[in-house]
Amino acid sequence: MHFRVVPSHARAMLGCLLRRGCGPLVLLWGLMLPLVSLRRLNQHGGRSQGPRDRPKLLLLSFDGFRWDYIDRVPTPNFHNLIDNGVMVEQVENVYITKTFPNHYSLVTGLYAETHGIVANEMYDPAANRSFSMETDSIYESWWWEEAVPLWLTIQKAGGRSGAAMWPGSDVKIHGEFPDRYLPYNASVSFEDRVGRIIEWFSAPEEEAVDFGVLYWEEPDESGHLLGPESSLMDPVIIDIDGKLGYLINELKKAGLYESVNLIVTSDHGMAQLSPDKIIELDQYVSRDLYTWVDKSPVVGILPVEGRNDEVYSKLVDANPNMVVYKKEDLPERFHYQHNIRIMPILIESKEGWTIMQNRTGPFMLGNHGFDNTLRSMQPVFVARGPAFRQNYLKDSMRAVDLYPLMCHILSVPALPNNGSLRNVQDLLSQEPARTTPSAPPGAGVHSYAPVVGSFLGVVMVLGFLVVYIKQVTLKQLPSLKHRSREMSQPLLQEDLHL
Ligand SMILES: *[C@@H]1O[C@H](CO)[C@@H](O)[C@H](O)[C@H]1NC(C)=O
Ligand SMILES: *[C@@H]1O[C@H](CO)[C@@H](O)[C@H](O)[C@H]1NC(C)=O
Ligand SMILES: *[C@@H]1O[C@H](CO)[C@@H](O)[C@H](O)[C@H]1NC(C)=O
Ligand SMILES: *[C@@H]1O[C@H](CO)[C@@H](O)[C@H](O)[C@H]1NC(C)=O
Ligand SMILES: [Zn+2]
Repeated sequence: MHFRVVPSHARAMLGCLLRRGCGPLVLLWGLMLPLVSLRRLNQHGGRSQGPRDRPKLLLLSFDGFRWDYIDRVPTPNFHNLIDNGVMVEQVENVYITKTFPNHYSLVTGLYAETHGIVANEMYDPAANRSFSMETDSIYESWWWEEAVPLWLTIQKAGGRSGAAMWPGSDVKIHGEFPDRYLPYNASVSFEDRVGRIIEWFSAPEEEAVDFGVLYWEEPDESGHLLGPESSLMDPVIIDIDGKLGYLINELKKAGLYESVNLIVTSDHGMAQLSPDKIIELDQYVSRDLYTWVDKSPVVGILPVEGRNDEVYSKLVDANPNMVVYKKEDLPERFHYQHNIRIMPILIESKEGWTIMQNRTGPFMLGNHGFDNTLRSMQPVFVARGPAFRQNYLKDSMRAVDLYPLMCHILSVPALPNNGSLRNVQDLLSQEPARTTPSAPPGAGVHSYAPVVGSFLGVVMVLGFLVVYIKQVTLKQLPSLKHRSREMSQPLLQEDLHL
Protein backbone atom coordinates (compact mmCIF):
# COMPACT_ATOMS: atom_id res chain seq x y z
CA MET A 1 0.00 0.00 0.00
CA HIS A 2 2.89 2.39 0.47
CA PHE A 3 4.14 2.57 -3.11
CA ARG A 4 2.19 5.72 -3.64
CA VAL A 5 4.58 8.01 -5.43
CA VAL A 6 7.18 5.75 -6.85
CA PRO A 7 4.94 4.49 -9.66
CA SER A 8 4.61 8.03 -10.97
CA HIS A 9 8.38 8.25 -11.19
CA ALA A 10 8.34 4.96 -13.01
CA ARG A 11 5.69 6.22 -15.41
CA ALA A 12 7.65 9.37 -16.12
CA MET A 13 10.82 7.39 -16.69
CA LEU A 14 9.06 5.03 -19.01
CA GLY A 15 7.84 7.97 -21.05
CA CYS A 16 11.37 9.24 -21.18
CA LEU A 17 12.75 5.90 -22.30
CA LEU A 18 10.09 5.64 -24.98
CA ARG A 19 10.91 9.09 -26.29
CA ARG A 20 14.54 8.01 -26.15
CA GLY A 21 17.45 10.31 -26.38
CA CYS A 22 17.35 11.12 -22.69
CA GLY A 23 20.19 8.87 -21.64
CA PRO A 24 22.16 11.18 -19.35
CA LEU A 25 18.95 12.22 -17.73
CA VAL A 26 18.06 8.60 -17.09
CA LEU A 27 21.41 7.98 -15.47
CA LEU A 28 21.18 11.00 -13.24
CA TRP A 29 17.57 10.37 -12.40
CA GLY A 30 18.27 6.76 -11.60
CA LEU A 31 21.02 7.77 -9.22
CA MET A 32 18.97 10.49 -7.60
CA LEU A 33 15.78 8.54 -7.20
CA PRO A 34 16.59 7.14 -3.78
CA LEU A 35 17.17 10.70 -2.57
CA VAL A 36 14.19 12.37 -4.12
CA SER A 37 11.58 9.72 -3.60
CA LEU A 38 11.05 10.72 0.01
CA ARG A 39 10.48 14.29 -0.95
CA ARG A 40 8.16 13.52 -3.81
CA LEU A 41 6.21 11.31 -1.50
CA ASN A 42 5.50 14.25 0.70
CA GLN A 43 5.12 16.80 -2.03
CA HIS A 44 2.45 15.08 -4.03
CA GLY A 45 0.73 13.26 -1.20
CA GLY A 46 -2.28 12.50 -3.30
CA ARG A 47 -4.15 12.30 -6.44
CA SER A 48 -1.56 11.23 -8.96
CA GLN A 49 -1.13 7.79 -7.38
CA GLY A 50 -3.38 4.79 -7.32
CA PRO A 51 -5.99 5.92 -4.80
CA ARG A 52 -6.47 2.37 -3.56
CA ASP A 53 -2.94 2.44 -2.23
CA ARG A 54 -3.34 5.68 -0.33
CA PRO A 55 -3.19 5.34 3.45
CA LYS A 56 -6.51 5.97 5.20
CA LEU A 57 -7.05 7.19 8.72
CA LEU A 58 -10.15 7.68 10.83
CA LEU A 59 -9.81 9.57 14.11
CA LEU A 60 -12.69 9.04 16.54
CA SER A 61 -13.28 10.94 19.76
CA PHE A 62 -15.77 9.85 22.39
CA ASP A 63 -15.94 13.06 24.41
CA GLY A 64 -14.91 12.62 28.05
CA PHE A 65 -13.97 8.93 27.77
CA ARG A 66 -11.62 8.50 30.72
CA TRP A 67 -8.72 6.05 30.21
CA ASP A 68 -9.91 3.59 32.85
CA TYR A 69 -13.52 3.28 31.69
CA ILE A 70 -12.59 0.32 29.49
CA ASP A 71 -11.75 -1.77 32.55
CA ARG A 72 -14.72 -1.04 34.75
CA VAL A 73 -17.37 -2.80 32.68
CA PRO A 74 -17.07 -5.33 29.86
CA THR A 75 -15.97 -3.46 26.72
CA PRO A 76 -15.33 -6.25 24.23
CA ASN A 77 -15.06 -3.95 21.24
CA PHE A 78 -12.37 -1.80 22.81
CA HIS A 79 -10.52 -4.95 23.87
CA ASN A 80 -10.78 -6.43 20.43
CA LEU A 81 -9.10 -3.33 19.02
CA ILE A 82 -6.36 -3.53 21.63
CA ASP A 83 -5.72 -7.24 20.94
CA ASN A 84 -5.32 -6.47 17.26
CA GLY A 85 -3.74 -3.08 17.63
CA VAL A 86 -2.15 -0.79 20.19
CA MET A 87 -3.15 0.88 23.41
CA VAL A 88 -1.49 3.71 25.30
CA GLU A 89 -2.14 3.55 29.00
CA GLN A 90 -1.36 7.13 29.94
CA VAL A 91 -2.02 10.02 27.56
CA GLU A 92 -1.10 13.44 28.84
CA ASN A 93 -3.55 15.80 27.17
CA VAL A 94 -3.18 19.58 27.12
CA TYR A 95 -3.97 22.16 29.76
CA ILE A 96 -6.69 23.19 30.28
CA THR A 97 -8.35 19.79 30.00
CA LYS A 98 -11.45 21.13 28.27
CA THR A 99 -13.17 20.05 25.08
CA PHE A 100 -12.31 22.73 22.54
CA PRO A 101 -8.64 23.18 23.47
CA ASN A 102 -7.98 19.45 23.42
CA HIS A 103 -9.83 18.63 20.24
CA TYR A 104 -7.87 21.34 18.46
CA SER A 105 -4.60 20.04 19.93
CA LEU A 106 -5.34 16.55 18.61
CA VAL A 107 -5.53 17.84 15.03
CA THR A 108 -2.73 20.44 15.25
CA GLY A 109 -0.17 18.93 17.64
CA LEU A 110 -0.02 22.30 19.39
CA TYR A 111 -0.50 23.37 22.99
CA ALA A 112 -3.51 25.60 23.54
CA GLU A 113 -1.37 28.71 24.02
CA THR A 114 -0.12 28.24 20.45
CA HIS A 115 -3.24 27.12 18.59
CA GLY A 116 -5.26 29.87 20.27
CA ILE A 117 -8.33 27.91 21.39
CA VAL A 118 -7.32 28.30 25.02
CA ALA A 119 -10.72 27.50 26.59
CA ASN A 120 -14.35 26.73 25.84
CA GLU A 121 -15.17 30.29 26.92
CA MET A 122 -12.71 32.99 25.88
CA TYR A 123 -12.28 36.72 25.72
CA ASP A 124 -9.74 38.43 23.52
CA PRO A 125 -8.94 41.82 25.09
CA ALA A 126 -7.12 43.12 22.02
CA ALA A 127 -10.06 42.45 19.73
CA ASN A 128 -12.72 42.97 22.42
CA ARG A 129 -14.42 39.78 21.28
CA SER A 130 -15.83 36.79 23.14
CA PHE A 131 -15.90 33.12 22.23
CA SER A 132 -18.51 30.87 23.77
CA MET A 133 -19.83 27.40 23.07
CA GLU A 134 -23.25 28.87 23.82
CA THR A 135 -23.17 31.26 20.87
CA ASP A 136 -22.36 31.38 17.18
CA SER A 137 -19.05 33.01 18.03
CA ILE A 138 -17.42 29.61 17.56
CA TYR A 139 -18.05 30.06 13.82
CA GLU A 140 -15.89 33.18 13.66
CA SER A 141 -12.91 31.91 11.65
CA TRP A 142 -10.58 34.34 13.28
CA TRP A 143 -10.46 32.42 16.58
CA TRP A 144 -9.17 29.29 14.87
CA GLU A 145 -6.61 30.77 12.55
CA GLU A 146 -3.60 30.77 14.82
CA ALA A 147 -3.19 27.16 13.66
CA VAL A 148 -3.95 24.91 10.70
CA PRO A 149 -5.87 21.70 11.45
CA LEU A 150 -4.76 18.46 9.83
CA TRP A 151 -7.81 18.23 7.59
CA LEU A 152 -6.65 21.34 5.74
CA THR A 153 -3.04 20.19 5.51
CA ILE A 154 -4.22 16.94 3.91
CA GLN A 155 -6.17 18.97 1.36
CA LYS A 156 -3.21 21.24 0.62
CA ALA A 157 -1.16 18.13 -0.06
CA GLY A 158 -3.70 16.88 -2.59
CA GLY A 159 -5.69 14.54 -0.34
CA ARG A 160 -9.24 14.70 0.99
CA SER A 161 -10.78 15.05 4.43
CA GLY A 162 -14.19 14.34 5.88
CA ALA A 163 -15.48 15.53 9.27
CA ALA A 164 -18.50 14.46 11.26
CA MET A 165 -19.10 16.96 14.08
CA TRP A 166 -15.50 17.30 15.27
CA PRO A 167 -15.22 20.61 17.16
CA GLY A 168 -14.10 23.28 14.69
CA SER A 169 -14.58 21.11 11.62
CA ASP A 170 -17.62 23.07 10.41
CA VAL A 171 -15.81 26.38 10.78
CA LYS A 172 -14.21 28.00 7.76
CA ILE A 173 -10.53 28.14 8.68
CA HIS A 174 -8.05 29.96 6.44
CA GLY A 175 -10.82 30.15 3.88
CA GLU A 176 -11.53 26.42 3.74
CA PHE A 177 -13.77 23.70 5.12
CA PRO A 178 -13.07 19.98 5.09
CA ASP A 179 -13.96 18.52 1.66
CA ARG A 180 -16.87 16.76 3.35
CA TYR A 181 -18.35 17.84 6.68
CA LEU A 182 -21.54 17.98 8.68
CA PRO A 183 -22.70 21.21 10.29
CA TYR A 184 -22.79 20.66 14.02
CA ASN A 185 -26.10 19.20 15.18
CA ALA A 186 -26.16 17.31 18.46
CA SER A 187 -29.38 15.55 17.43
CA VAL A 188 -27.74 13.61 14.62
CA SER A 189 -27.30 10.04 15.85
CA PHE A 190 -23.99 8.25 16.07
CA GLU A 191 -25.22 5.79 13.48
CA ASP A 192 -25.99 8.59 11.02
CA ARG A 193 -22.58 10.13 11.57
CA VAL A 194 -20.95 6.75 10.95
CA GLY A 195 -23.09 6.36 7.83
CA ARG A 196 -21.67 9.55 6.37
CA ILE A 197 -18.09 8.68 7.29
CA ILE A 198 -18.42 5.27 5.61
CA GLU A 199 -19.93 6.92 2.54
CA TRP A 200 -17.01 9.35 2.28
CA PHE A 201 -14.34 6.68 2.70
CA SER A 202 -15.95 4.36 0.18
CA ALA A 203 -16.74 7.01 -2.43
CA PRO A 204 -15.40 6.57 -5.98
CA GLU A 205 -11.63 6.82 -6.19
CA GLU A 206 -11.63 10.45 -7.28
CA GLU A 207 -13.65 11.55 -4.27
CA ALA A 208 -12.87 9.20 -1.40
CA VAL A 209 -11.48 10.83 1.73
CA ASP A 210 -8.06 9.91 3.12
CA PHE A 211 -8.62 11.34 6.57
CA GLY A 212 -11.83 11.33 8.59
CA VAL A 213 -12.68 12.77 12.00
CA LEU A 214 -15.69 11.57 13.95
CA TYR A 215 -17.03 12.97 17.20
CA TRP A 216 -19.61 11.78 19.72
CA GLU A 217 -20.81 13.77 22.76
CA GLU A 218 -20.90 10.85 25.20
CA PRO A 219 -19.82 9.77 27.79
CA ASP A 220 -19.04 13.42 28.61
CA GLU A 221 -22.63 14.54 29.03
CA SER A 222 -23.54 11.69 31.36
CA GLY A 223 -20.25 12.09 33.21
CA HIS A 224 -21.10 15.73 34.04
CA LEU A 225 -24.62 14.86 35.07
CA LEU A 226 -24.08 11.69 37.08
CA GLY A 227 -20.45 11.97 38.15
CA PRO A 228 -17.94 9.39 36.91
CA GLU A 229 -18.14 7.34 40.11
CA SER A 230 -21.86 6.74 39.79
CA SER A 231 -22.82 3.19 38.92
CA LEU A 232 -25.26 4.75 36.46
CA MET A 233 -22.20 5.43 34.29
CA ASP A 234 -21.77 1.70 33.68
CA PRO A 235 -24.53 1.38 31.08
CA VAL A 236 -23.31 4.59 29.44
CA ILE A 237 -19.86 3.07 28.94
CA ILE A 238 -21.35 -0.20 27.73
CA ASP A 239 -23.38 1.80 25.22
CA ILE A 240 -20.23 3.54 23.94
CA ASP A 241 -18.54 0.18 23.50
CA GLY A 242 -21.57 -0.89 21.49
CA LYS A 243 -21.23 2.19 19.32
CA LEU A 244 -17.60 1.34 18.67
CA GLY A 245 -18.76 -2.16 17.70
CA TYR A 246 -21.29 -0.63 15.33
CA LEU A 247 -18.57 1.43 13.63
CA ILE A 248 -16.26 -1.59 13.30
CA ASN A 249 -19.08 -3.62 11.81
CA GLU A 250 -19.95 -0.91 9.30
CA LEU A 251 -16.30 -0.60 8.29
CA LYS A 252 -16.21 -4.36 7.75
CA LYS A 253 -19.42 -4.34 5.73
CA ALA A 254 -17.99 -1.62 3.49
CA GLY A 255 -14.74 -3.57 3.01
CA LEU A 256 -12.79 -0.80 4.73
CA TYR A 257 -11.78 -2.43 7.98
CA GLU A 258 -8.47 -3.86 6.81
CA SER A 259 -7.34 -0.71 5.05
CA VAL A 260 -8.51 2.10 7.32
CA ASN A 261 -6.35 2.94 10.31
CA LEU A 262 -8.68 3.61 13.21
CA ILE A 263 -7.66 5.70 16.23
CA VAL A 264 -10.10 5.89 19.13
CA THR A 265 -9.35 8.48 21.76
CA SER A 266 -10.88 11.37 23.65
CA ASP A 267 -10.26 14.93 24.72
CA HIS A 268 -10.15 14.41 28.49
CA GLY A 269 -11.38 12.30 31.40
CA MET A 270 -13.77 13.25 34.21
CA ALA A 271 -13.47 13.87 37.95
CA GLN A 272 -16.10 13.28 40.61
CA LEU A 273 -17.36 16.46 42.27
CA SER A 274 -19.39 16.97 45.44
CA PRO A 275 -21.85 19.60 46.67
CA ASP A 276 -19.72 19.68 49.82
CA LYS A 277 -16.75 20.93 47.84
CA ILE A 278 -17.77 24.36 46.60
CA ILE A 279 -15.67 27.52 46.63
CA GLU A 280 -17.72 30.73 46.58
CA LEU A 281 -15.75 33.60 45.12
CA ASP A 282 -18.26 36.19 46.35
CA GLN A 283 -16.91 35.55 49.84
CA TYR A 284 -13.51 36.87 48.85
CA VAL A 285 -13.82 39.47 46.12
CA SER A 286 -16.57 41.74 44.85
CA ARG A 287 -17.99 40.95 41.42
CA ASP A 288 -17.53 44.62 40.53
CA LEU A 289 -13.79 44.10 40.43
CA TYR A 290 -13.59 41.48 37.70
CA THR A 291 -15.18 39.70 34.77
CA TRP A 292 -15.51 35.93 35.08
CA VAL A 293 -14.47 34.66 31.66
CA ASP A 294 -13.95 30.91 31.79
CA LYS A 295 -15.74 28.63 34.22
CA SER A 296 -14.82 26.10 36.89
CA PRO A 297 -12.57 24.27 37.55
CA VAL A 298 -10.04 26.65 35.95
CA VAL A 299 -11.54 30.10 36.16
CA GLY A 300 -10.24 32.89 33.97
CA ILE A 301 -10.46 36.21 35.81
CA LEU A 302 -10.21 39.55 34.03
CA PRO A 303 -9.86 42.26 36.68
CA VAL A 304 -11.15 45.72 35.83
CA GLU A 305 -8.50 48.08 34.52
CA GLY A 306 -5.79 48.77 37.09
CA ARG A 307 -7.13 46.39 39.77
CA ASN A 308 -5.05 43.27 38.97
CA ASP A 309 -2.96 43.29 42.13
CA GLU A 310 -5.91 44.04 44.35
CA VAL A 311 -7.97 41.15 42.97
CA TYR A 312 -4.98 38.84 43.15
CA SER A 313 -4.19 39.66 46.77
CA LYS A 314 -7.82 39.15 47.80
CA LEU A 315 -7.84 35.69 46.23
CA VAL A 316 -4.36 34.28 46.62
CA ASP A 317 -4.66 32.94 50.17
CA ALA A 318 -8.43 32.95 50.38
CA ASN A 319 -9.16 29.25 50.18
CA PRO A 320 -6.87 26.21 50.56
CA ASN A 321 -8.82 24.29 47.92
CA MET A 322 -7.84 26.55 45.09
CA VAL A 323 -4.57 27.78 43.63
CA VAL A 324 -4.44 31.32 42.27
CA TYR A 325 -1.94 32.15 39.56
CA LYS A 326 -0.93 35.37 37.96
CA LYS A 327 -0.66 34.63 34.27
CA GLU A 328 3.08 35.27 34.28
CA ASP A 329 3.57 32.76 37.14
CA LEU A 330 1.76 29.83 35.56
CA PRO A 331 3.94 26.70 35.74
CA GLU A 332 6.02 26.08 32.64
CA ARG A 333 4.74 22.53 32.31
CA PHE A 334 1.22 23.74 31.51
CA HIS A 335 2.46 25.49 28.34
CA TYR A 336 -0.39 27.83 29.05
CA GLN A 337 0.77 31.41 29.18
CA HIS A 338 1.77 32.93 25.87
CA ASN A 339 -1.55 34.02 24.47
CA ILE A 340 -3.54 37.18 25.00
CA ARG A 341 -6.66 35.03 25.35
CA ILE A 342 -5.32 33.62 28.62
CA MET A 343 -6.60 35.87 31.39
CA PRO A 344 -4.35 37.84 33.77
CA ILE A 345 -5.48 35.73 36.75
CA LEU A 346 -6.30 32.03 36.72
CA ILE A 347 -7.88 30.12 39.59
CA GLU A 348 -7.57 26.36 39.57
CA SER A 349 -9.57 24.36 42.07
CA LYS A 350 -8.21 21.18 43.56
CA GLU A 351 -9.45 17.95 42.03
CA GLY A 352 -13.07 17.41 43.00
CA TRP A 353 -13.78 21.05 43.91
CA THR A 354 -16.08 23.48 42.12
CA ILE A 355 -15.64 27.25 41.91
CA MET A 356 -18.82 29.33 41.81
CA GLN A 357 -19.62 32.94 42.58
CA ASN A 358 -22.31 31.84 45.00
CA ARG A 359 -24.27 28.65 45.53
CA THR A 360 -27.08 29.50 43.15
CA GLY A 361 -26.80 28.30 39.60
CA PRO A 362 -26.15 24.94 37.97
CA PHE A 363 -24.01 22.41 39.76
CA MET A 364 -22.52 19.33 38.13
CA LEU A 365 -21.44 16.05 39.71
CA GLY A 366 -18.61 15.55 37.25
CA ASN A 367 -16.18 17.94 35.58
CA HIS A 368 -12.86 18.23 33.79
CA GLY A 369 -10.45 21.05 33.08
CA PHE A 370 -8.11 20.31 36.01
CA ASP A 371 -4.34 19.75 35.85
CA ASN A 372 -3.51 17.57 32.85
CA THR A 373 -1.17 15.38 34.90
CA LEU A 374 -4.06 14.14 37.06
CA ARG A 375 -4.96 10.61 36.01
CA SER A 376 -8.68 11.43 36.19
CA MET A 377 -8.21 14.02 33.45
CA GLN A 378 -6.61 11.67 30.95
CA PRO A 379 -8.32 10.05 27.96
CA VAL A 380 -8.40 6.57 26.49
CA PHE A 381 -6.19 5.75 23.48
CA VAL A 382 -6.42 2.68 21.26
CA ALA A 383 -5.61 2.24 17.57
CA ARG A 384 -5.69 -0.48 14.98
CA GLY A 385 -4.92 -0.83 11.29
CA PRO A 386 -2.16 -1.57 8.78
CA ALA A 387 0.03 1.22 10.16
CA PHE A 388 -0.08 -0.09 13.74
CA ARG A 389 1.55 -2.91 15.59
CA GLN A 390 -0.63 -5.65 17.01
CA ASN A 391 -1.34 -6.40 20.63
CA TYR A 392 1.09 -3.72 21.77
CA LEU A 393 0.82 -1.82 25.02
CA LYS A 394 2.64 1.46 25.49
CA ASP A 395 3.07 3.21 28.83
CA SER A 396 2.64 6.83 27.93
CA MET A 397 2.51 9.53 25.28
CA ARG A 398 1.45 13.15 25.02
CA ALA A 399 -1.69 14.06 23.12
CA VAL A 400 0.38 16.45 20.98
CA ASP A 401 2.43 13.49 19.71
CA LEU A 402 -0.62 12.18 17.88
CA TYR A 403 -0.41 14.86 15.20
CA PRO A 404 3.06 13.97 13.85
CA LEU A 405 2.05 10.30 14.06
CA MET A 406 -1.04 10.93 11.93
CA CYS A 407 0.98 13.01 9.46
CA HIS A 408 3.43 10.16 9.16
CA ILE A 409 0.70 7.60 8.57
CA LEU A 410 -0.92 9.84 5.96
CA SER A 411 2.41 10.79 4.36
CA VAL A 412 1.89 14.51 4.62
CA PRO A 413 4.51 16.89 5.98
CA ALA A 414 3.72 17.95 9.53
CA LEU A 415 3.56 21.67 10.18
CA PRO A 416 5.63 22.95 13.13
CA ASN A 417 4.13 21.39 16.24
CA ASN A 418 4.80 20.49 19.87
CA GLY A 419 4.72 16.73 19.40
CA SER A 420 7.40 14.26 18.43
CA LEU A 421 7.10 11.31 16.08
CA ARG A 422 10.04 9.72 17.87
CA ASN A 423 8.01 9.48 21.09
CA VAL A 424 5.34 7.36 19.44
CA GLN A 425 6.99 5.60 16.52
CA ASP A 426 7.06 2.32 18.45
CA LEU A 427 3.29 2.18 17.88
CA LEU A 428 3.91 1.70 14.18
CA SER A 429 4.17 -1.63 12.41
CA GLN A 430 7.08 -0.24 10.42
CA GLU A 431 9.68 1.98 12.02
CA PRO A 432 10.04 5.24 10.13
CA ALA A 433 13.35 6.02 8.47
CA ARG A 434 15.41 8.64 10.16
CA THR A 435 14.46 12.12 9.05
CA THR A 436 16.99 13.74 6.77
CA PRO A 437 18.55 16.88 8.25
CA SER A 438 16.85 19.16 5.72
CA ALA A 439 13.34 17.88 6.47
CA PRO A 440 11.26 19.87 8.94
CA PRO A 441 10.85 18.40 12.41
CA GLY A 442 8.18 15.77 12.57
CA ALA A 443 7.82 15.45 8.80
CA GLY A 444 6.52 12.05 7.84
CA VAL A 445 8.93 9.73 6.05
CA HIS A 446 8.78 6.10 5.02
CA SER A 447 11.51 3.58 5.63
CA TYR A 448 10.80 1.55 2.51
CA ALA A 449 10.75 4.47 0.09
CA PRO A 450 14.55 4.65 -0.22
CA VAL A 451 14.66 0.88 -0.70
CA VAL A 452 12.10 1.02 -3.45
CA GLY A 453 13.86 4.05 -4.87
CA SER A 454 17.22 2.28 -4.91
CA PHE A 455 15.72 -0.71 -6.62
CA LEU A 456 14.09 1.39 -9.28
CA GLY A 457 17.29 3.37 -9.55
CA VAL A 458 19.23 0.21 -10.43
CA VAL A 459 16.57 -0.84 -12.92
CA MET A 460 16.72 2.57 -14.53
CA VAL A 461 20.48 2.66 -14.73
CA LEU A 462 20.37 -0.71 -16.49
CA GLY A 463 17.61 0.59 -18.75
CA PHE A 464 19.75 3.58 -19.45
CA LEU A 465 22.71 1.45 -20.53
CA VAL A 466 20.53 -0.40 -23.01
CA VAL A 467 18.98 2.71 -24.48
CA TYR A 468 22.01 4.93 -24.29
CA ILE A 469 24.27 2.60 -26.21
CA LYS A 470 21.71 2.61 -29.01
CA GLN A 471 20.92 6.26 -29.02
CA VAL A 472 23.75 8.53 -28.01
CA THR A 473 22.64 12.12 -28.09
CA LEU A 474 23.23 15.16 -25.99
CA LYS A 475 20.48 17.36 -27.33
CA GLN A 476 18.32 16.97 -24.21
CA LEU A 477 20.96 18.30 -21.86
CA PRO A 478 19.37 21.72 -21.29
CA SER A 479 16.24 20.12 -19.87
CA LEU A 480 18.36 18.15 -17.43
CA LYS A 481 19.19 21.34 -15.58
CA HIS A 482 15.54 22.19 -15.29
CA ARG A 483 14.53 18.77 -14.04
CA SER A 484 17.15 18.60 -11.32
CA ARG A 485 15.96 21.89 -9.97
CA GLU A 486 12.41 20.68 -9.88
CA MET A 487 13.44 17.54 -8.09
CA SER A 488 15.22 19.36 -5.32
CA GLN A 489 12.37 21.63 -4.33
CA PRO A 490 11.78 21.82 -0.59
CA LEU A 491 8.83 20.15 1.07
CA LEU A 492 5.43 21.65 0.56
CA GLN A 493 5.10 24.44 3.09
CA GLU A 494 3.68 27.32 1.12
CA ASP A 495 1.05 29.76 2.36
CA LEU A 496 -0.30 27.91 5.31
CA HIS A 497 -0.39 31.16 7.31
CA LEU A 498 0.72 29.67 10.56
C1 LIG B 1 -16.31 45.98 23.62
O1 LIG B 1 -17.46 45.53 22.94
C2 LIG B 1 -18.67 45.80 23.62
C3 LIG B 1 -19.80 45.21 22.81
O2 LIG B 1 -19.59 43.86 22.58
C4 LIG B 1 -18.84 47.30 23.80
O3 LIG B 1 -20.02 47.55 24.55
C5 LIG B 1 -17.63 47.88 24.52
O4 LIG B 1 -17.73 49.28 24.57
C6 LIG B 1 -16.36 47.50 23.80
N1 LIG B 1 -15.23 47.93 24.60
C7 LIG B 1 -14.21 48.59 24.09
C8 LIG B 1 -13.10 48.93 25.02
O5 LIG B 1 -14.16 48.89 22.90
C1 LIG C 1 -30.59 18.13 13.41
O1 LIG C 1 -30.73 16.75 13.22
C2 LIG C 1 -32.04 16.27 13.47
C3 LIG C 1 -31.99 14.76 13.40
O2 LIG C 1 -31.40 14.33 12.21
C4 LIG C 1 -33.00 16.89 12.45
O3 LIG C 1 -34.30 16.44 12.70
C5 LIG C 1 -32.94 18.40 12.57
O4 LIG C 1 -33.71 18.99 11.57
C6 LIG C 1 -31.50 18.88 12.45
N1 LIG C 1 -31.45 20.31 12.74
C7 LIG C 1 -30.94 21.18 11.90
C8 LIG C 1 -30.92 22.59 12.35
O5 LIG C 1 -30.48 20.85 10.83
C1 LIG D 1 -26.22 34.56 43.83
O1 LIG D 1 -25.96 35.06 42.52
C2 LIG D 1 -27.13 35.33 41.77
C3 LIG D 1 -26.66 35.79 40.40
O2 LIG D 1 -25.83 34.86 39.81
C4 LIG D 1 -27.99 36.35 42.44
O3 LIG D 1 -29.16 36.55 41.70
C5 LIG D 1 -28.33 35.87 43.85
O4 LIG D 1 -29.01 36.88 44.53
C6 LIG D 1 -27.07 35.51 44.61
N1 LIG D 1 -27.45 34.93 45.90
C7 LIG D 1 -26.94 35.33 47.05
C8 LIG D 1 -27.42 34.59 48.25
O5 LIG D 1 -26.13 36.22 47.10
C1 LIG E 1 5.08 24.65 20.17
O1 LIG E 1 5.29 24.67 18.77
C2 LIG E 1 5.19 25.95 18.18
C3 LIG E 1 5.33 25.77 16.70
O2 LIG E 1 6.55 25.18 16.41
C4 LIG E 1 6.25 26.86 18.76
O3 LIG E 1 6.10 28.14 18.24
C5 LIG E 1 6.11 26.88 20.29
O4 LIG E 1 7.15 27.64 20.85
C6 LIG E 1 6.15 25.48 20.84
N1 LIG E 1 5.91 25.51 22.27
C7 LIG E 1 6.74 24.96 23.14
C8 LIG E 1 6.37 25.05 24.58
O5 LIG E 1 7.75 24.40 22.80
ZN1 LIG F 1 -15.01 17.17 26.17
